[in-house]
Amino acid sequence: MPSLKASRLGIVKIRQARNEKGWGWSIDQDDTCFVEASKVVEPEKNWQSGGPYADGVSEGTWKRFLAGRQAISAAAFKAYCQILGLNWQEVVDRRTQLNHNTSTDWGDAIDISAFYGRSAELEQLERWITKDNCRLVALFGMGGIGKTALALKLAEQVKENFEYLIWRSLRNAPPLQEFISDMIEFLSNGQGTDLPESSDSGVSRLLGHLREHRCLLLLDDFETVLRGGELAGQYRGGYQGYGKLIRRVGEERHQSCLVLTTREKPTEVSSLAGTTLPVRELKLRGLGYEDAKRILQTKGFSNLKRGSEELIQLYRGNPSALKIVASTIKEVFNGDIYQFIDQSTLVINDVIINLLSEQFQRLSALEIEIIYWLAIENYPVPLPELRANMQFSGTSSSQLIVALTSLQRRSLLDKESMQEVEEVVFTLQPVVMKYITNQFIEQVCKEIRAVIKTKSLIKLVLLRSHALVKEQEDDELKAIQIRRILTPVIEKLYVKLKSADLVEQLKEVLSMLKGKSPPTVGYAQINILNLLSMTENQLQQP
Ligand SMILES: Nc1ncnc2c1ncn2[C@@H]1O[C@H](COP(=O)(O)OP(=O)(O)OP(=O)(O)O)[C@@H](O)[C@H]1O
Ligand SMILES: [Mg+2]
Repeated sequence: MPSLKASRLGIVKIRQARNEKGWGWSIDQDDTCFVEASKVVEPEKNWQSGGPYADGVSEGTWKRFLAGRQAISAAAFKAYCQILGLNWQEVVDRRTQLNHNTSTDWGDAIDISAFYGRSAELEQLERWITKDNCRLVALFGMGGIGKTALALKLAEQVKENFEYLIWRSLRNAPPLQEFISDMIEFLSNGQGTDLPESSDSGVSRLLGHLREHRCLLLLDDFETVLRGGELAGQYRGGYQGYGKLIRRVGEERHQSCLVLTTREKPTEVSSLAGTTLPVRELKLRGLGYEDAKRILQTKGFSNLKRGSEELIQLYRGNPSALKIVASTIKEVFNGDIYQFIDQSTLVINDVIINLLSEQFQRLSALEIEIIYWLAIENYPVPLPELRANMQFSGTSSSQLIVALTSLQRRSLLDKESMQEVEEVVFTLQPVVMKYITNQFIEQVCKEIRAVIKTKSLIKLVLLRSHALVKEQEDDELKAIQIRRILTPVIEKLYVKLKSADLVEQLKEVLSMLKGKSPPTVGYAQINILNLLSMTENQLQQP
């Protein structure tokens, strides 16, 4: 069954069209959209409010269509676009159309337009997968080194050997059951949509599919489910099931392959991997000089004699770091690489974290405010929405545009344009997104601790200007924000405070905010309320 999903820009268009029509995510109040979509799919029948609806038209497919995270049947996809007044060709992620003999679902994989080198790595990985029939392959390496880009290239190269190809990022930390039912739904062509009773039985069902069909599963950003900053390879609370999943995929007999990319190596991979075993690992290093040079060239450095070798060594051929630093050298040092190297203070090992923290120091207050909002949003945001978010900051449109242009020049931002609606949407580069989200969480925790300690609201800055969870109708996006931001904030606060104490102290902060004017409070009250209700919920759980 052919299936389609929306591109990143398509999702924004769908969101706008849906708002204009006033159609929500749920059909509780109004099911016009399902009746209308059914008429498109099967025009000869007489469809009525209340259902049943045409094949492929249901609340589930509508939600998946709106979220754009999974492919749905092509007929339903086209019908939903039509009733929203959209041209489906302009909404669809074209990669879901390139089906050949393989059913593909690229999830929200990025596009790789320019890709240099890596031929040895690609050859080795291809051999592992197609000749040695490896069941589990882990690609690991530091942030920005090119894991995602390489995995995408690899997938393109080997996909003809598989019946199914599915790409998923764990960057929104989906609970294992949700992740598995998403996989099973795709691999069973939309049949097995019910949630598995337990994650163990879900993993067993998934393995059944992996035995029956030759599938290539690509799992990006695996480190999201690992506990950062502690002993490498341990899982975050509630995500241990992912460990069991990869252990079973590595150990049990089947004809498929799971490729994962991660900044940190999970313990299962260390214990299962071996050169003659069906589980392999590849540590990805930087690009070689010639390939790294081409990255600098695409950033507008044509004469690369002076200093380029030192620069590439300094950043260990990390393509992401080189892209960002090239922009800085152009902007701040007038393109003079030597001058930049002279002033550079690169000491710590992780070049990308070091570089991003240096970049962060350079940003203006307004730029920081914007990138934190883009990190909260997670998906591309149109300008008017960004402005609406920043309602308490008193920034004019022209100031906002100047700051956005500056962020773009620094290569921290992706700007995409939707020509037909003359609208531009903004988002952060994936590597930058991870860094800024962590930075935001750190900073918010610091503020909360400071307010609790000093019993003064002076230190409340980000909690006033930014929403930890944006109020929105869309439940799925809200759940993602809770997992990405609210939960990690609480987990961090717990490290130093007992949960019962945290509840008391959050209540105290809330009472300090009482009676203050709206501009003084900003988002602080709703943020504290959200933190409070989540902490209380967790307290009630056994
Ligand atoms: N071989 C390459 N040629 C050209 N550009 C590359 C190459 N590899 C990576 N890049 C670019 O470098 C940037 C970072 O790459 P990528 O997102 O793959 O890194 P990553 O290792 O997955 O990072 P993270 O740990 O944050 O997920 C992207 O803009 C990507 O397009
Ligand atoms: Mg990546």
